[in-house]
Amino acid sequence: MDWESFYNSHSSPASYEIIITEIKQFISHHENKKIVLITSGGTTVPIEQNTVRFVDNFSAGTRGSASAEYFLDSDYAVIFLYRSKSLEPFLRHFLNSKLLDKLEIVNNKSIQVKEDLENLIPVLKKYKDAKSSNNIISIPFTTLVEYMWLLRGFCKLLNNRYCLIYLAAAVSDFYIPPNEMVKKAEHKIQSKDGPPVIALRMVPKVLMAITQIWSPKAFIVSFKLETDNSLLESKSKDALIKYKHQLVIGNLLHTRKYHVKLICQNEIEDIYLSEKDNKDGIEIEDIIVKKIKIRHEVFLKMN
Ligand code: PMT
Repeated sequence: MDWESFYNSHSSPASYEIIITEIKQFISHHENKKIVLITSGGTTVPIEQNTVRFVDNFSAGTRGSASAEYFLDSDYAVIFLYRSKSLEPFLRHFLNSKLLDKLEIVNNKSIQVKEDLENLIPVLKKYKDAKSSNNIISIPFTTLVEYMWLLRGFCKLLNNRYCLIYLAAAVSDFYIPPNEMVKKAEHKIQSKDGPPVIALRMVPKVLMAITQIWSPKAFIVSFKLETDNSLLESKSKDALIKYKHQLVIGNLLHTRKYHVKLICQNEIEDIYLSEKDNKDGIEIEDIIVKKIKIRHEVFLKMN
């Protein structure tokens, strides 16, 4: 199925028009500023109409949520399109610090911090600054179809060279078309009927539509996730040739927090996070975003 037929056969998510209006307002508020759209987290593909089970894509949302913070530091306005309940910028630090153990109830009336949370003050400050200056807007999705609709809607609004599209979400390559799902499973599939035979279909690669139709003027960064190191470079280069965009970030599932490859038309740059960096609390996304910022600036000068 091509991407146009995909959209024709799947209706837009609830509140789609309201969300698009919000994004339009956000973009016009940041007219003279660089804007990044970050996608983050994995998509789900329901296997029943009233969904109990679904096929999920792996991603905690670390890459996307951490990158959002560093793009804000680099003076970008951020549109954060993320899988509901995956990691969010700023909030992720609180989830990692056993927050509940550090709070206590006082006189059954209020909550008091009982342990030192000083190290989180800069995080909270940055969150408050980003919110008060309206520099970030976060929009959740759950299913593949919601993701596809929102992505298309946002990309069409971000077709200029000051916009950066950073596709860190883990997007399903397979799904079950709704008409095939209805026949098989309007309600929860019953185990007494034996194991269901589920035929998954290919999801069209929307990257082609982003780079060629919706946002050809933007600076586009796609990701390539592999588990086999011998495929990473060649598949990333193939993507660059096929989609003709600016940058592919290649990463392997098990080393993605310490090593990525920045792959563009004429060079490959390896980025490693050393043990010392890790101990010092440096994250690889900090380095990635600084390098992308420089490349985006060069792109702006050239175009
Ligand atoms: O969130 P974390 O746990 O920190 O993990 C981060 C990450 C590993 C998920 C992230 O770094 C990453 O690699 N994200 C992309 C994963 C992915 O979908 O890779 P892929 O090789 O399947 O797809 C390559 C590109 O094609 C992606 O940019 C994707 O947006 C795009 N795609 C994928 C499927 C599809 N139907 N259409 C697409 O356009």
